[in-house]
Amino acid sequence: MSGPRILAVSGSLRTGGFNRLLVDLAVKKARELGAQVDVLDLKAQDLPLYDADVEAAGLPPSVVDLRERVGNAQAFIISSPEYNSSIPGGLKNAIDWASRPPGRRFQGKWAAVMGASPGPFGTARMQPHLRQVMLAVGAMVLPTQLHLARAGEAFTPDGALKDEARQKDVEALVTELVDRVKV
Ligand code: FNR
Repeated sequence: MSGPRILAVSGSLRTGGFNRLLVDLAVKKARELGAQVDVLDLKAQDLPLYDADVEAAGLPPSVVDLRERVGNAQAFIISSPEYNSSIPGGLKNAIDWASRPPGRRFQGKWAAVMGASPGPFGTARMQPHLRQVMLAVGAMVLPTQLHLARAGEAFTPDGALKDEARQKDVEALVTELVDRVKV
């Protein structure tokens, strides 16, 4: 029997960004639990800005691919930075593209949301916005919150979390997600 299909994404496009590192740790744990994880790289995806005219004229291959992958997923892992106290535009744009037509690809699927930032708040202002958007597209968001503050000091050079308790937090969140999908 194969495990749940999970789509994992970092809201930051930056190579080596803290949120990519957090996604990598979450993906490792999900795979250990038997999940089939598809990692969506928003930089490689190179999505155009959402535009209903483009949608009407014929979808770009990157959007077709995104919609297929979101539709195929049974659950989501999202780690995102906070930009100006909210969701980075690239991530919001991807959710907007994947959400059309409404009520389909996210409906009834669980999402684990987390975020890392170099400052003291660990994306605490962004996460309520992301939760609201995910609920708006029909997903269900795990109540467990994970904020990685002072991310600049949080990782070892090889991408592990220095604080074992924070590593356990990531693993617990992913385990909760995989368990929800199994139910
Ligand atoms: C930021 N950053 C930021 N950080 C934060 O804690 N609160 C904020 O409101 C913002 N706003 C903001 C806006 C813009 C446009 C940028 C580019 C950056 C800093 C941000 O947290 C930092 O660059 C992170 O390192 C980005 O995450 P990754 O790329 O490391 O995953």
